[in-house]
Amino acid sequence: MPDASARTPYVAGNWKMHMTVAATRAYVDKLLGRLPLGKGVEIGLCAPFTALAVAVECVDGSGVKVLAQNMHQAAEGAFTGEVSGPMLVELGVAGVVLGHSERRRDNCETDRALQEKVPAALEAGLAPILCVGESEEEREDGETQRKLRHQVQEGLLSVSDERLAEVTIAYEPIWAIGTGRVATPDQAQEAIAFIRALVGDRSQEAARAVRVLYGGSVNAENAGEILSQPDVDGALVGGASLDPEEFARIVGAALT
Ligand code: 13P
Repeated sequence: MPDASARTPYVAGNWKMHMTVAATRAYVDKLLGRLPLGKGVEIGLCAPFTALAVAVECVDGSGVKVLAQNMHQAAEGAFTGEVSGPMLVELGVAGVVLGHSERRRDNCETDRALQEKVPAALEAGLAPILCVGESEEEREDGETQRKLRHQVQEGLLSVSDERLAEVTIAYEPIWAIGTGRVATPDQAQEAIAFIRALVGDRSQEAARAVRVLYGGSVNAENAGEILSQPDVDGALVGGASLDPEEFARIVGAALT
């Protein structure tokens, strides 16, 4: 069923709470010359809110996309400290990471809120990356598929079948995030094929087109093997994306 050739590889760097405005300028300056631009890989930088505007300015004309790491589901309102989709679009932001496990763990991000955030992002004109993944305990208990099914079904519940493929899904096993314990290529392939099949329960066409990324301790050394798996369409890279040279090498690995 998967038709990998029809899906453009996608590599995004999730900076998390790193990078000031000055650091963003210096980073993008170093990065752009090292990237294989225009070669058929989509490249994203997920910057903190304060660095979004300067990131958009610095990548201008390169084709590199800038994404936020969260947004509120409402377009505006009495939500102190929150940022909405239309506010991000106004800055030239192209997408948004939603449901990262760090936000689920530390910021009470719920599947219920994500049910609203994912369609709200699409409505605003942002391409969402919906993050899902099991904990170590869930994997050991044989609960991985149950957890993924729940998160994928909930997160996509209010997205119409026609728009399903506009959502990118990132499979990020919690035990692999920031631990140096990358999933094996087989583990990544198995979980991502399962996620694709879940999308297929809604629409076979969407399942063929939807991009599913792997995230969790990806670096320049292990990226090639993971990205060569048939259902793995790219990577969401945390720590290793903070070094522009290493990030560029990971992007390059998506082309081979
Ligand atoms: P690391 O690459 O640092 O493990 O982080 C992965 C991640 O959480 C990307 O969103």
